[in-house]
Amino acid sequence: MKKIIIAIDGYSSCGKSTIAKDLAKKIKYSYIDSGAMYRAVTLFCLENGLFIGDTLDEKELQNLISEIKITFHFNETTGKSDTYLNGRNVEREIRGMGVAAKVSPVAAVGFVREEMVRQQQAMGQEKGIVMDGRDIGTVVFPEAELKIFVTARPEIRAQRRMAELLAKGDKVEFDEVLENLSTRDRIDSTRKDGPLRQACDARVLDNSDMTVDEQNALVFRWFEEAAG
Ligand code: CDP
Repeated sequence: MKKIIIAIDGYSSCGKSTIAKDLAKKIKYSYIDSGAMYRAVTLFCLENGLFIGDTLDEKELQNLISEIKITFHFNETTGKSDTYLNGRNVEREIRGMGVAAKVSPVAAVGFVREEMVRQQQAMGQEKGIVMDGRDIGTVVFPEAELKIFVTARPEIRAQRRMAELLAKGDKVEFDEVLENLSTRDRIDSTRKDGPLRQACDARVLDNSDMTVDEQNALVFRWFEEAAG
């Protein structure tokens, strides 16, 4: 079977990373969470005082962007890859609401996207990769052999994200989570560079009423068709 590129895009908290991780593990491909990269840049901005209230100091970020190095390393204990920002494990910090509240404006900045897309394309040079995000099938790998666009009803997505955060011990309200998802979807879909949209040759997966096993089986079938 030939090695291919699998691009998984879709709305916030619709289960893209679960699909991508499970598939990558089954077919022994590497998995890259492109959202983690935008989250890590956002953490960098927060830690370096680049936000004055809600306003991002884009000029200063442009001066510092070349200092931001994001890598992924496998964690033997959890069996998953962790995100590192300049050599520091930031996996836990980038998943909280503090970063979630600021990530979409950071990800809308043109030079941030340019740099992240460049790093993502370099990671896919050898193929054999599953990457999830918003613009993977449209901008990062428009030539990907398999593109999946994932969606689910907003309330279901908010419930899933809330369960995830509560399990980690974060105290969050349902309305806050739902509001954050809707705001991010709006910013992600309407920005000028790399907006979230379905590639014309993507397969659509609405998993609102599907179990993880059902969705994995469907996605694996699509993989076999695309790689076979
Ligand atoms: O997991 P969740 O759906 O909450 O989001 P994520 O995949 O971790 O991505 C976080 C944010 O990064 C998104 O809301 C987008 O603003 C941005 N992002 C992006 O602009 N382009 C990507 N390829 C991936 C994420």
